[in-house]
Amino acid sequence: MKKKYITTPIYYVNDVPHIGHAYTTIIADSAARYFRLRGFDTFFLTGTDEHGQKIEEAAKKRGKTPKEYADEISAKFKALWDEFEISYDKFIRTTDPEHIAGVQKAFEKMYQKGDIYKGVYEGHYCISCEAFFPESQLIDEEFCPDCGKQTSIVKEESYFFRLSKYQDKLLELYQKEEKFVLPKAKKNEVIRFVESGLQDLSITRTSFDWGIKLPPSINDPKHVMYVWLDALLNYITALGYGTDERLMYYWPADYHLVGKDILRFHAVYWPAFLMSLELPTPKHIATHGWWTRNGQKMSKSKGNVIDPKAVADAYGVENFRYFLLREVPFGQDGDFSQKALIDRINNDLGNDLGNLLNRIIGMSGKYFDYEIKSQDVAKYHQEELQEVRNIIEALPPLIEDMKWHKFLEELWQALSVANKAIDRHTPWAKMKEGKEEEAMALVALVANILAKVALMLHPVMPKTTQAIAEALGFGIDQESYAKYIDRFELLSDFRIKKIPPLFPKIEEPLMVEKKAQEPKKEEGLITIDEFFKVQIKVGTIKEAEELPKSKKLLKLMVDLGEERPRQIIAGIKEYYTPKELIGEQVCVVANLKPAKLMGHISEGMILAAKDENGLTLVGPKTSKKEGTPVK
Ligand code: ME8
Ligand code: MG
Repeated sequence: MKKKYITTPIYYVNDVPHIGHAYTTIIADSAARYFRLRGFDTFFLTGTDEHGQKIEEAAKKRGKTPKEYADEISAKFKALWDEFEISYDKFIRTTDPEHIAGVQKAFEKMYQKGDIYKGVYEGHYCISCEAFFPESQLIDEEFCPDCGKQTSIVKEESYFFRLSKYQDKLLELYQKEEKFVLPKAKKNEVIRFVESGLQDLSITRTSFDWGIKLPPSINDPKHVMYVWLDALLNYITALGYGTDERLMYYWPADYHLVGKDILRFHAVYWPAFLMSLELPTPKHIATHGWWTRNGQKMSKSKGNVIDPKAVADAYGVENFRYFLLREVPFGQDGDFSQKALIDRINNDLGNDLGNLLNRIIGMSGKYFDYEIKSQDVAKYHQEELQEVRNIIEALPPLIEDMKWHKFLEELWQALSVANKAIDRHTPWAKMKEGKEEEAMALVALVANILAKVALMLHPVMPKTTQAIAEALGFGIDQESYAKYIDRFELLSDFRIKKIPPLFPKIEEPLMVEKKAQEPKKEEGLITIDEFFKVQIKVGTIKEAEELPKSKKLLKLMVDLGEERPRQIIAGIKEYYTPKELIGEQVCVVANLKPAKLMGHISEGMILAAKDENGLTLVGPKTSKKEGTPVK
């Protein structure tokens, strides 16, 4: 049977998931669903990366053991993926005993082969990237060339992997496998890196404990394995490498989905490890770009991340899935904004897809009592059918190259054929002229186009497309894919069902965002003039009430000593009841541009301090006159 093996990176458990992680995982999920729909025996792997210095430090900071901390965050990733309809077949954790055993087996094999030797490592290490750098690559002799953070000097006994030995073989691989890296253009970067000369790789550490020990046969208890060796091997230990190898028939991976930050690890180190293990190399390292905010990579350490669950709660999981895949060309960076998301939902989903479905439901009901026959579609609409067929036949290669944006763009062309057909053939006029057969053919054509679009869109929007299929009286499964896509058959006589609109129009942002931090200038220092641009004043809360539809917001009327109190919408509902706020004094940013939050104007911002124990409003220590400036 044809098989596909698809993976996401295993994510570090140093902090909770954000949009970037959701993006990779949703792409991988869409790919897995697509291949399953086409009848491939598909294995889809995700999980968490739990060893290493970075995790050890993150746990220590919170007063937890690394394992306790890893359990907690790993569970958060898993819960999020369940919410996002991620259809993984296995969720691996690098603290799983089978993984640990498999990694030790692999180490042993590479060691016995002579690909691992003991030496001394001297150089620079970036904990945030868990990567070594030669001095020549550092910025200002001490900062990491990848993330800009300070590196530390490491001099310790270490085992090395003979990466240099594989330089030529790697270059051969890149030469031979045209699409080893997707998008293809990204391969040059990798080739340049390898051509510039590969140094042997330090693969053990002695300065901390939180890692996999060397195999008992080597017996060197001071050492733990380098986290990237441990992590990369997850892709085979998940299939039972070194323990129970029954699933190893899925190897090699067809797609390792990764962000461009970790391309080098996957396109250079990983195939070299595999060559050493005498296993085949993966087919594709599919590399996407970064989600940014104000041009900066979204990352936990920058504090500019957006919680994917908040977006999904506000806009719907599947709309969000569609947006992520459609908005940014695979491989490029993209800036996240609610405006872009709302535009996609209202235009692509609401206007192009949702309205078309509504029109077809409406017409079929009005003219034909919901009973549709496809028998005359070919007679009247040969041309449109052919057009749609050409569009659909060109789609699979786009998915197989991970060009999801292009795939969706092209798929929407089929909707455009349907919309144009309605405008050109005006079924309402046909009905008036008594050309019922022609009107029926048109309605059936459009319903059939919608059915094919739903089948193709299914991997991206599983539940929404099932709802569409139900309205059109068919089911989405492998069989219907073969019938209506591969063989391009039409639905036979079918009954249309009325369903409520799938994409209600969104009028304004549904999510309150923390403002992204501005890129730092001069290490975050501002001048006194810049500070005085912000007018902060003392105010007294006169009225407070809940906003019925909001979990987070309260509406306050705050007296700043002006003619009338200001209306301020504040995200403090989880921490204060309206009653306890009345009469409280607070500090208010008085010259903030008014903004609309859930339909209510907000004329300022109150200051508050928040830590893991909750939020408290900030005000003068003793009562002050309303309007008193704070400096
Ligand atoms: O690197 N935009 O884990 P990690 C898009 N444990 N994608 C993003 C992103 C952003 N702003 N930020 C993160 C690790 N990602 C290792 C992997 S694999 C054997 C070991 C996504 O938690 C993207 O897929 O830092 C990126 O490669 C990955 O999260 C890094 O996750
Ligand atoms: Mg990272």
